[in-house]
Amino acid sequence: MALASPPRSTSSRGLGMDTFSPLKTTPAAHRTGGLDVTLSVNGRDHHLTLDPRVTLLDALREHLGLTGSKKGCDQGQCGACTVHVDGERHLACLTLAASAEGKSITTIEGLAPEEGSLHPMQQAFMDHDAFQCGYCTPGQIMSAVACIREGHARTDDDIREYMSGNLCRCAAYPNIVAAIKQARDQMEGARG
Ligand code: FES
Ligand code: FES
Repeated sequence: MALASPPRSTSSRGLGMDTFSPLKTTPAAHRTGGLDVTLSVNGRDHHLTLDPRVTLLDALREHLGLTGSKKGCDQGQCGACTVHVDGERHLACLTLAASAEGKSITTIEGLAPEEGSLHPMQQAFMDHDAFQCGYCTPGQIMSAVACIREGHARTDDDIREYMSGNLCRCAAYPNIVAAIKQARDQMEGARG
């Protein structure tokens, strides 16, 4: 007897949710022709033709080869995809690439002030062993820099609260807090 195919989940049945899966947007781009989009990433303009549904994360990783921003959950729950858009932290997996046109996007690849150097936050993560597998680390670092700029890194509790959107399955949390405090002092010292 042939096995029946597994039932579709009730959450997606009838809602057409499959259509909106970001994982399926890239093939659709080839079918529909796409939208011309210019993305300014790490100080460089990139002209792309994308399906309007392509996320910023897929545009960065699949179209520009910038794989530093990680795809953890692809649904806004882990923070691994965090990038800066006009200096503010955004989840690239929940941001449409087309909506980022005309804005300044910074990824982990463009965070350091110059090629071959490290941003104080990157150095602090190394100094404090603030990672194990490293998968969450680019998102942690991008979020941590924004957290300091927002003024949300005054206390350990503050840091834990405002970094709570960035999950680390290796549980390097105490070291991450220590790294952020070191970088905070350097960044604020540099600002004078
Ligand atoms: S991949 Fe974007 S929040 Fe998890
Ligand atoms: S270092 Fe492994 S998930 Fe954070």
